[in-house]
Amino acid sequence: DVQTRFFGPSWLQMQSHVPMNFIWPKECLVNAHEELQAPLVDLDGFLRGDEEATHRAAELISKACLTHGFFQVINHGVDQRLIGEAYNQMDGFFKLPIDRKLSVRKIPGSMWGYSGAHADRFSSKLPWKETLSFPFHDNNSEPVVTNYFNSTLGKTFEQTGVTFQKYCEAMKGLGMKLMELLAISLDVDRFHYKDLFEDGCSIMRCNYYPSCQQPSLALGTGPHCDPTTLTILHQDQVGGLDVFADKKWQTVRPLPHALVVNIGDTFTALSNGRYKSCLHRAVVNQYKERRSLAFFVCPKEDKVVRPPEDIVRRDGTKQYPDFTWSKLLEFTQKYYRADEDTLQNFTKW
Ligand code: SIN
Ligand code: FE2
Repeated sequence: DVQTRFFGPSWLQMQSHVPMNFIWPKECLVNAHEELQAPLVDLDGFLRGDEEATHRAAELISKACLTHGFFQVINHGVDQRLIGEAYNQMDGFFKLPIDRKLSVRKIPGSMWGYSGAHADRFSSKLPWKETLSFPFHDNNSEPVVTNYFNSTLGKTFEQTGVTFQKYCEAMKGLGMKLMELLAISLDVDRFHYKDLFEDGCSIMRCNYYPSCQQPSLALGTGPHCDPTTLTILHQDQVGGLDVFADKKWQTVRPLPHALVVNIGDTFTALSNGRYKSCLHRAVVNQYKERRSLAFFVCPKEDKVVRPPEDIVRRDGTKQYPDFTWSKLLEFTQKYYRADEDTLQNFTKW
């Protein structure tokens, strides 16, 4: 009945056929047959301050960013147990009865909360997934993530809040180190981008993709470019992240100790168009649910996003007009309301 169909537990997983509004056009569904060459960058030397290792890492990153904007990092300094604990905590949330999850439902116009695509029966091209998104600020005397969980889900989710507070702190820390490497790779002062991100609000999103009886019709996350600056993703071992590079879909094979990093549109502007923000998607499969943890590093809302003068001088022209992250966010929300939970289908300006 309608009640179970739309509000039952894990109703996506229970479907024997993909409902109409979850069917994607054929051109979005072409299979990936190859593995993406996303270099594995060992951060150990760089994090220890070794100059030579730093330049080797910057070199690898530069090459990847000039071609498709995806690379993977190992020895990144984030405790593997913390990553494991983040998955345990997110599982605890997604296993809740639907009414409990809907109590923190993302309201239209907001970025934060739970979203199961079933919330919107009249949309099309819906993503085959459930998400939980929350904000993270670091330059704040309050532990915002811990507080978010306490105030929305209460005492039973206190540990979830504590875990994700730590997880986000680790991700933001790593994000800032990666900004240094990106600056080095572009041959500008390594701290050039630092200011822009101080006191910025980052986005944390937990993705849960149920298995799907007809995986060739649906998509977990439709093709999109990230509007943010940098995305740091951990995917579980199931696999499903594809990148459109070299005119074909290519898959990013999961590696348990690696984090996948990709350039978002905002960094494309910060590099004066040199570094690519590439189209990517998440596919689903018939056999196994998949989970991923995405952390989006965003600039301070009202600071002006513009490339370093050095780069503009070397390139001879400035590729994009100045903008602020808050304006760009407003734009993505206004034009892509149907997919606003994932900022999906954002196309370049
Ligand atoms: C993923 O789940 O692997 C990626 C999701 C996204 O790019 O939004
Ligand atoms: Fe993405």
